[in-house]
Amino acid sequence: MTGQRISARIAAVAPSATLAVDAKAKALKAQGENVVGFGAGEPDFPTPGHIVDAAVEACRDPRTHKYTPTGGLPELREALVAKTARDSGLAVTAAQVLVTNGGKQAIANSFATLCDPGDEVLVLAPYWTTYPEVIVLAGGVPVVVTTDAASGFRATLEQLDAAVTPRTKVLLFVSPSNPTGAVYPRHEVEAIGRWAVDRGLWVLTDEIYEHLVYGGAEHVSMPVVVPELADRCIVVNGVAKTYAMTGWRVGWMIGPVDVVTAATNLQSHETSNVANVSQRAALAAVSGDLAAVEEMRRAFDRRRLTIHGLLNEIEGISCVLPEGAFYAFPSVEGLLGREIRGRRPLTSAELADLAIDEAKVAVVPGEAFGAPGYFRMSYALGDDDLAEGVARLAKLFSDAS
Ligand SMILES: Cc1ncc(COP(=O)(O)O)c(C=O)c1O
Repeated sequence: MTGQRISARIAAVAPSATLAVDAKAKALKAQGENVVGFGAGEPDFPTPGHIVDAAVEACRDPRTHKYTPTGGLPELREALVAKTARDSGLAVTAAQVLVTNGGKQAIANSFATLCDPGDEVLVLAPYWTTYPEVIVLAGGVPVVVTTDAASGFRATLEQLDAAVTPRTKVLLFVSPSNPTGAVYPRHEVEAIGRWAVDRGLWVLTDEIYEHLVYGGAEHVSMPVVVPELADRCIVVNGVAKTYAMTGWRVGWMIGPVDVVTAATNLQSHETSNVANVSQRAALAAVSGDLAAVEEMRRAFDRRRLTIHGLLNEIEGISCVLPEGAFYAFPSVEGLLGREIRGRRPLTSAELADLAIDEAKVAVVPGEAFGAPGYFRMSYALGDDDLAEGVARLAKLFSDAS
């Protein structure tokens, strides 16, 4: 036998930091600790009743006990065509849609399908922790473009110009953003889309938070405002965040037919179709109205304003007002290097450890998103938990000297 037990390719994959924080919080809870978890990126709401009912009905129908085509139930793919036209104004055909196990598999499929070894992908930081890992797994090279709080965590064309090389193949774009909550205004989406077209780049645009925008912010789909991009654009989406359906594992990718056909071929050998019952539930979700979504959006908006206000009252913390998704991304730089309860955390990762140990508050440190010095705090938790968790942090950090 030669080589290591674990292949070099897989050994290099970092565990998901966000899932790790969530696991630690849940383990402490299981031991009876009163933990407030800002870690998980999932709504606290149950899936709306009419969607659950559709799944229960599907379970009783023997036809649902079988495989579906790898690409998804034909009626779901048609419904996704209609939903995409309704929600973002993008006109596509069912042949351009592949139903995947969550948005996550759509992203992994996309990079596996687009990247040859050494192809560079522009990744805007702070980035969702999964992006660089799946790019590397696909043989691509993530090229990180760092944005900061001063620009509202939005990249400029100058920054993109400085990062692009002859090896660049794809720009990865996400708005609203996880982890920052940044939402690009229409003219910036258009300018970035045109920039990509002019350079012959592909764009993968992750629209999973499309419905979660607040205040005056609006979600704008890049291939809608830059139609010339259509032949080199993949749109990723899913039901997880919009319909409180994280556990059902349904997402999709929309792209040019040749890319979607190739990705379907890949998926046919990896996972085949998404669970048939879950597809039925997703069908009910995307073909129903958006009333439940609007109700959840209002609750998130309220919590957004609360967490933003409370965090900014804590000395050493400053937080940009998030405009979308359900994350606050405060800077904790002002607390680093100070003594708190006998410890002197020098990094946001060490400060996050202190928060869980001393205050039983779980947050994800910015290191997980290529942005040390920050915390990501999901505000998709109940109003009371939110207030309690931030109060505990305020008390803990008031001891800083
Ligand atoms: C930016 C972004 N894209 C995609 C996903 C994937 O979601 P899922 O695989 O649950 O559909 C997530 C989940 O956290 C996300 O935050």
